[in-house]
Amino acid sequence: MSIETSLDELRVLKQHAQLGGGADRIDAQHERGKMTARERIDLFVDPGTFEEIDALAADFDNDEGERFFGDAVVTGWGKVNGRTICLYAQDFTVYGGSLGEVVGTKIAKVMDVAMKTGVPVVGLNDSGGARIQEGVGALAGYGDIFYKNVQASGVIPQISVIMGPCAGGAVYSPALTDFVFMVEKTSQMFLTGPDVILSVTGEQTTVEELGGAMSHVSKSGVAHFAASDERECLEEVRRLLAYLPSNNVDDAPIEDTGDSVNRRLDDILNVVPGESDMQYDVRDVVERIVDLGEFMEVHEFFAPNIVVGFGRIGGHSIGVVANQPLYLAGVLDIDASRKAARFVRFCDAFNIPIVTLVDVPGFLPGIGQEHGGIILHGAKLVYAYAAATVPKITVILRKAFGGAYDAMSSKHLGADVNYAWPGAAIAVMAGRQAVNVINRRDIQNAADPEAERARLVEDYVKRLEHPYIAASKGYIDDVIDPAETRTKIAHALELLRTKSVPVYQKKHGNIPL
Ligand code: HXC
Repeated sequence: MSIETSLDELRVLKQHAQLGGGADRIDAQHERGKMTARERIDLFVDPGTFEEIDALAADFDNDEGERFFGDAVVTGWGKVNGRTICLYAQDFTVYGGSLGEVVGTKIAKVMDVAMKTGVPVVGLNDSGGARIQEGVGALAGYGDIFYKNVQASGVIPQISVIMGPCAGGAVYSPALTDFVFMVEKTSQMFLTGPDVILSVTGEQTTVEELGGAMSHVSKSGVAHFAASDERECLEEVRRLLAYLPSNNVDDAPIEDTGDSVNRRLDDILNVVPGESDMQYDVRDVVERIVDLGEFMEVHEFFAPNIVVGFGRIGGHSIGVVANQPLYLAGVLDIDASRKAARFVRFCDAFNIPIVTLVDVPGFLPGIGQEHGGIILHGAKLVYAYAAATVPKITVILRKAFGGAYDAMSSKHLGADVNYAWPGAAIAVMAGRQAVNVINRRDIQNAADPEAERARLVEDYVKRLEHPYIAASKGYIDDVIDPAETRTKIAHALELLRTKSVPVYQKKHGNIPL
């Protein structure tokens, strides 16, 4: 065969592969309000940078004599914001994006490429699950992917984007990755669908209520981000990648934001009320601290009593963890502990310094919390902070009481630089509760119990509810002018760029899962 003829044949094969399941199924995909795998890739990567591999992988001809080159997934690498990533995009037009041996092998292979080269892997999921015709071969494909997800965890960032159905055991690959994005109305994740639930438990639900984007970003916490459409979703993934290093030995990219680290926060005290029980939105503080006010919140709708996300200071990526007095007074509960612990683990795995802003009344009391395992889940946060060796900078804005003082990146858990604002109350508990414990009899025996209580609270506040005892012991490195918070953090980050700490040799710790 001449080169020309072979080239013609190759062109035909590639065109065949480009069409996935064919024009009719592409139309059907559009009618479902979804893009095809290739349209998504075109939108996602920098123009002209996608290099496809295994476009000609194929298994068998089906009963209609059809053979789908590339099968139900498009894999390869490309650039996002000028940096290389590996990706796979499930193609719903071929057997509903279902996963059989060819698809499993292709995804595993591109994950290997990502691991070898130290670049993030992004999976665009849109699949009817295990390819029923292939039986255990399909299950093997999933198992191989789960295994690689675990090997890659903490080595390269792994991002899952759910853009269609994702059901059954298939959901475990996204759950093993670092961040899950979903598209409202067109994506769902569940282990068992509404019909099975109805037959087993008698509960009635819909796919959207059960496993839609808003359910997972606000109720289960399985997903971190929800977008209103596919275009916005892919744009958000690009935005997230810009904060992340390509792998665990790389530094995150530095962006020249032009925002001076010496910028004072002159209006900060207008944002944070002096009264410790008055509400405010801690995101207003975060946005004043980070470069250009740009903050990418992670898990915005889940456990809103704690805020986590990415920003930059002096152009360098940071992870921010902040109690949110706007919800539940910023208390630490089960979900807030889990949310923050997982975020801290991610930042630590990928060399992103952690800035913690503390304004916390304590852990949430209650039978539900105790029986739900707040002890175990709160311990996750303690563990995550104590184990993190990245630079850790903490600023106590208003209050830090009880165990939550320790848990929120205190000096005792290995934080490097700890600051407090002058009005910060650092104590075992607030005065009003404290006097009920230590002065109960004095109050009962007083001629005017209420006046005595008020006097004792005032005395307690004067003696114990301030940052200067902690400062005198070195638990707080300095009490700072709130207007200088950004500058102080920036200078500490600069110092800590060369931080290195010895780590005990062990196989791995036993985090309270
Ligand atoms: C093979 C499948 C398939 C599957 C869909 N298709 N799911 N082929 N294996 N699992 C095919 C259909 O036959 C159809 O082929 C095409 O994909 C599009 O499917 P439609 O049903 O027409 O699309 P739609 O109406 O949008 O419904 C999508 C769907 C539905 C909700 C995903 O297809 C569905 O319920 N599929 C079965 C889901 C399922 O039970 N999967 C197994 C889960 S258990 P044609 O030729 O007509 O285009 C599992 C275990 C994993 O995944 C365990 C891992 C450890």
